[in-house]
Amino acid sequence: MSEVLPLGEVPPEPGVLPRKMLASVIRPGREGDPLAAMQIEEVDLPPVGPNDALVLVMAAGVNFNGVWAARGKPVSVFKMHGEPFHIAGSDASGIVWKVGEQVKRWRVGDHVVIHCNQSCGQCPECNGLDPMACSEQKIWGYETSWGSFAQFTKVQAQQLLKKPKNLGWLPAASYGLTYFTAYRMLVHQAEVTAGDNVLIWGAAGGLGVFAVQICKMLGANPIAVIGGKDKVPLLQSLGASLWIDRKDFPNLAYHPSETPEQSRLRSEDCKRFGKRIRELTAGRDVDVVFEHVGQETFPTSVFVAKKFGKIVICGATTGFNLEFDVRHLWMRQKQILGSHFANAYQAERANQLVHEGKIRPVLDQVFPFLEVARAHALMAANQHKGKIGIAVQCAADEKPFSQAAGEKAA
Ligand SMILES: NC(=O)c1ccc[n+]([C@@H]2O[C@H](COP(=O)([O-])OP(=O)(O)OC[C@H]3O[C@@H](n4cnc5c(N)ncnc54)[C@H](OP(=O)(O)O)[C@@H]3O)[C@@H](O)[C@H]2O)c1
Repeated sequence: MSEVLPLGEVPPEPGVLPRKMLASVIRPGREGDPLAAMQIEEVDLPPVGPNDALVLVMAAGVNFNGVWAARGKPVSVFKMHGEPFHIAGSDASGIVWKVGEQVKRWRVGDHVVIHCNQSCGQCPECNGLDPMACSEQKIWGYETSWGSFAQFTKVQAQQLLKKPKNLGWLPAASYGLTYFTAYRMLVHQAEVTAGDNVLIWGAAGGLGVFAVQICKMLGANPIAVIGGKDKVPLLQSLGASLWIDRKDFPNLAYHPSETPEQSRLRSEDCKRFGKRIRELTAGRDVDVVFEHVGQETFPTSVFVAKKFGKIVICGATTGFNLEFDVRHLWMRQKQILGSHFANAYQAERANQLVHEGKIRPVLDQVFPFLEVARAHALMAANQHKGKIGIAVQCAADEKPFSQAAGEKAA
């Protein structure tokens, strides 16, 4: 076997390992803009522990955590895992290439997608409460160093899920992190039920496209917020008929240290925004707000949630320090619910819905492996819709459904 596999090809013999692999690597000295931070290098293959699997990455998915990792903010990934290198990437589809001696459920040659939660598997939290509560819980490819932007990735075998046969490698690599996160937020944390009105910020973004689909599947009414009317056709294709363009509310965003005049203008836009929601919902209020934007939108989210309503939040793209009028929260007995990724059982259940064709990935653009950094720069600039895929060992122009390179006959 040669030093490094040629990109875009599936080696004929599963399990035969090259000496080195290509990876998109971030180093401590160059954190910052993704274009400078993420560089292609030739590196050794990761070691595989007894409960691990080594996966040949056919395709990888881009997530916002790659942008955070490149920037080194708000926390440097090197403080989290202590390694002198970081290969980002928390989504992949691929072929199992090697398994540790304790792994029973998977074999070399299996076609898989990967969920991104790692935990110890041995503590009471892992075995009775929820692996997300494990003291060693980590997000693979963000809090760990061997992510998916490489020809091979090392994962815990419990992270493997069957790849849907109805999808090519690229769409299969695009949905895990954001879809499973949205699933836990809406199904388990906020317990959305039929008839609920759910306000979804960033509805055409990575989390949002799945939040919309999950709401439709549950019989709830998604109210999709978008930053531009060019995103309406995408939302309609997902079944959302109620949408609001946030650009029609130019003073809605909260920025710290606002002047009394700015505060007055924001309050006015906030009320207009609430009125717009009621126009769309025949006078009903919002049962659940789906939050991940953070500082700029959170005061509006707390304001528009109905009495006893819920705000479920998993991120804060615009800032982590949230400021809002807490009287709206306590007087009207609203709840704020934190949520973070999903456990393996939730990921498995959610993945089944993709197998059944009830939830579909929304792949916006595909980049070749050598352009991982450019794909992240695009996401950092909010110039994408849905998800971005990276072709690693699959062809960049693979057919979107089935018969992808290396796919076994069904
Ligand atoms: N904790 C977890 O497990 C977890 C999992 C996934 C993601 N996250 C976090 O959640 C956030 C979103 O992730 P994503 O994958 O959905 O990212 P994304 O694909 O970039 O989508 C985010 C959407 O937010 C909207 N947005 C951006 N700036 C905004 C602003 N100032 N006001 C209102 N809306 C704004 C944009 O839509 P419009 O411009 O159309 O409004 C954008 O499409 C990130 O911070 C990510 O790190 C956390």
